[in-house]
Amino acid sequence: MKLYRSPIFTPVADPFGTSDVDATWRYFEDGCLQVDDSGRIAWVGEWNEAQLTDDVKPEPLPQHTLITPGLVDTHLHAPQLEMIGSYGGDLLEWLNRYTFPTEARFADAGHALSIARELFEELPRGGTTTALLFSTIHTTATEIFFEEAERAGVRAIIGKTLMDRNAPANLLEPAATAIADSRELIRKWHGRGLLSYAISPRFAPTCSDELLAAAGGLRSEFPDVYVHTHVSESRGEVRWVRELFPDARDYVSVYESAGLLGPRSVLAHGIHLGDEELELLRRTDSRISHCPNSNLFLGSGLFPLQKVLRAGITCGLGSDIGAGTTPCLFNAMADAYKVQQVQGVSLSPFELWYLGTLGGARTLSLDGVTGSLEPGKDADFLVLDLQATSLLNRRIRSASSVQELLAGLIFMGDDRVVSETFVRGRRISQRARPGC
Ligand code: GUN
Ligand code: ZN
Repeated sequence: MKLYRSPIFTPVADPFGTSDVDATWRYFEDGCLQVDDSGRIAWVGEWNEAQLTDDVKPEPLPQHTLITPGLVDTHLHAPQLEMIGSYGGDLLEWLNRYTFPTEARFADAGHALSIARELFEELPRGGTTTALLFSTIHTTATEIFFEEAERAGVRAIIGKTLMDRNAPANLLEPAATAIADSRELIRKWHGRGLLSYAISPRFAPTCSDELLAAAGGLRSEFPDVYVHTHVSESRGEVRWVRELFPDARDYVSVYESAGLLGPRSVLAHGIHLGDEELELLRRTDSRISHCPNSNLFLGSGLFPLQKVLRAGITCGLGSDIGAGTTPCLFNAMADAYKVQQVQGVSLSPFELWYLGTLGGARTLSLDGVTGSLEPGKDADFLVLDLQATSLLNRRIRSASSVQELLAGLIFMGDDRVVSETFVRGRRISQRARPGC
């Protein structure tokens, strides 16, 4: 058993659309987190209410900390780490100019290994404990991403990208090979430790009807495997899908016809969806990853969060690196706030924190395991350093409430704030402390 003594904040329920927001979170001012030997949370509450034996001492922590659940990144591209900040052009230009040439380099296993190592150091450094990622089309590179996620101890859902048209020839594969390789990867990696597999058709424009149908067939062979794709990110993309699939009612129905929707399907973006598409996503209980930083960077549009949530669709936040400019999800929370502000909606710190933690876990159907600090869940948590920067320290010293504390972290926080990161009770990242 391990004990952690610190102020603790955790969401425990969805704050959107409830009149009793204060029932959706817990804050323990002098908190106690008890983690059992299997890495599960045994107890959480106020220190003076914990039943402790004299011989168990709390783990040493820095002063002025906050313990909070690990962050859940519901959409990113592992191979795009090295092209963050490739500017100019909208989504389709950006894909052709920067993304496809960058991804082609992952035919080289040495290159894949160096990026994979860096990525799985960077994610927990920024507070991410769970992530859903695209690899590239390369099976060996995908294996390397799985191996390095496992080595780093990050909870990860990874998939080999499926593409058979509308990209350079060295990034295309016949459907039969792509599906056979995906099947082998599922058998090897899905459900191994903290890892899961996502069948990953990149998006409808780079997949033929045959490939989409084969991906849907693979999903019915392995119903608990995820599906990860993009939908309705930019207006140009939506127009292109209309041309490529003239018989389809709309973009979402292209995926439905292929059998790719369902509670384990996560579609990134969904900015320009019509009412019928939202209804189809709701009916199939498919999930949306909102990636505000990427949407602003590519100029893709303003995600209508309220409309999507009111339609009954579960949403989480994604960094979407490399169109997103940082893997640290504090930034995604801050940008989600700004994207709603310009649409006349002010999200509260509780709503933003929920989206980055428990909401993300729900999006990935992992809320029974992670996303909040509650007994029985895995101990996926962060130790945040409230004095990491002098400006943050000043802001937080004057914070008069829990929401002010969270606001300071959301709008001024970055990876410097993340002092320690734990997944299933194991510390997987620790920031060097000044003077140590
Ligand atoms: N749509 C298809 N591929 C991509 C990608 O790599 N990044 C983003 N942001 N959108 C996409
Ligand atoms: Zn993406």
